[in-house]
Amino acid sequence: MTNMNKESISIIGLGVVGLTTAVGFALRGHKVIGIDIQPEKVDMINRGVCPIYEVGLSHALKKVQIRATTDHNEAFNTNFSFLCGGTPPKKDGSIDLYFLREPAKQLAKVLENKKDYHMVVVRSTVIPGTTEEVVMPIFNECKHIGLCVNPEFLREGTAIEDFLKPNRIIIGQAENTAGDRLEHLYRDFNSPIMRTNIKTAEMIKEASNAYLATRVSFINEIGNTCRELGIDIYDVAKGMGYDERIGSDYLRAGIGFGGFCLPKDLSALIAQAKKLGYKPKLLEAVESVNKEQPMKMIQLLKRHIPNLEGKTIGVLGLSFKPDTDDVRKSKAFEIVSELVNEGAKVKAYDPQAMVNFQKVYPNHIQYSDPVQIMDSDAVLILTEWNEFNDLDYRGKLVIDGRMVPNAKQAETYEGICW
Ligand code: UGA
Repeated sequence: MTNMNKESISIIGLGVVGLTTAVGFALRGHKVIGIDIQPEKVDMINRGVCPIYEVGLSHALKKVQIRATTDHNEAFNTNFSFLCGGTPPKKDGSIDLYFLREPAKQLAKVLENKKDYHMVVVRSTVIPGTTEEVVMPIFNECKHIGLCVNPEFLREGTAIEDFLKPNRIIIGQAENTAGDRLEHLYRDFNSPIMRTNIKTAEMIKEASNAYLATRVSFINEIGNTCRELGIDIYDVAKGMGYDERIGSDYLRAGIGFGGFCLPKDLSALIAQAKKLGYKPKLLEAVESVNKEQPMKMIQLLKRHIPNLEGKTIGVLGLSFKPDTDDVRKSKAFEIVSELVNEGAKVKAYDPQAMVNFQKVYPNHIQYSDPVQIMDSDAVLILTEWNEFNDLDYRGKLVIDGRMVPNAKQAETYEGICW
């Protein structure tokens, strides 16, 4: 790419999504400035240190030049600003827009006096209608802006690969010029680009996450039945996956879906549907299967140890999935809490997530190493980290919530859905 084609981009909010977007555009040769309110994070990024555990992103960050700052005024000299703030869940299931709204207000102040055209792109995940109702009015006084919604489909653990090779790029545009500008920015991505209106783009993201969640609860429900019939759900999923109409992704049965996104986007969609007077029966069922699924681990354990009082239970895996240190909405919280309630002594190990888990759950757990975990009355597997397949399970009682193949060598082995 020649210098002439380079854009200057500010990325506002440097969590997984923002930082990945920043590093990704920098890898494509654009000039990127990252803006975040947390000085420690800004400082780490300026030193080339990735503030989150994300292997590919960490490596890529070292290859590119990204300057980070806490000063929103620096967006003035760029021509694109991506709003990437997180949208965490509120108690009623709806989402909190604080980290989208406040940076948007700061950006609007900066752009009020700008005479050159500036693109504002909402990248945060929001329920349909949010950009038009909440974000657009904030930029009322900015005369020379174009506005688009450009949802991200990045998975933690493979975020930078997902950014560089997206299976689709969705552009929700307020008007054509804005859509053209954003499409031009993505011109050297070899991926299908879909142009649509703002609300539709927002719904494509929400519906995609709700659908992935639906597949997981679906396979868990079939898996719960398979278990009773002595059928291996992983063989069933494999057989189903050959059908191109079905495909094999998101059919891994286990303790259910966690993480920052699937659970909150599902409940946000449910909350919005209800607000509109529609009862989303299927989505509610998806949520309810997901809520009950982790407790099956305790039921299976109690078949072998009916009274957990004083027993030592080893837990392998605390992150919501492998290759991340993220514990948000990890099913491990529900399972560990139940073990503690039943009076068990819990020892836990995770290759990356112990520090984060301990911040939320400081007491009642002895954080350990895998060898000590094996020296427990029973071992529960809650995340399928690759290294768990290398452990020696012989002679143990193992309850597997994630299908770690070698765990089947245990003396007594129970799979949650198989
Ligand atoms: C999810 C989506 O996959 C991304 O496309 C989206 O961009 C992102 O949310 C977001 O909205 O930002 P992520 O939260 O990283 O990405 O998690 P996933 O890889 O989708 O996994 C979610 C949960 O489902 C995990 O707990 C995982 O263990 C579980 N899962 C996934 C299963 O139990 N079975 C499966 O077959 C697949």
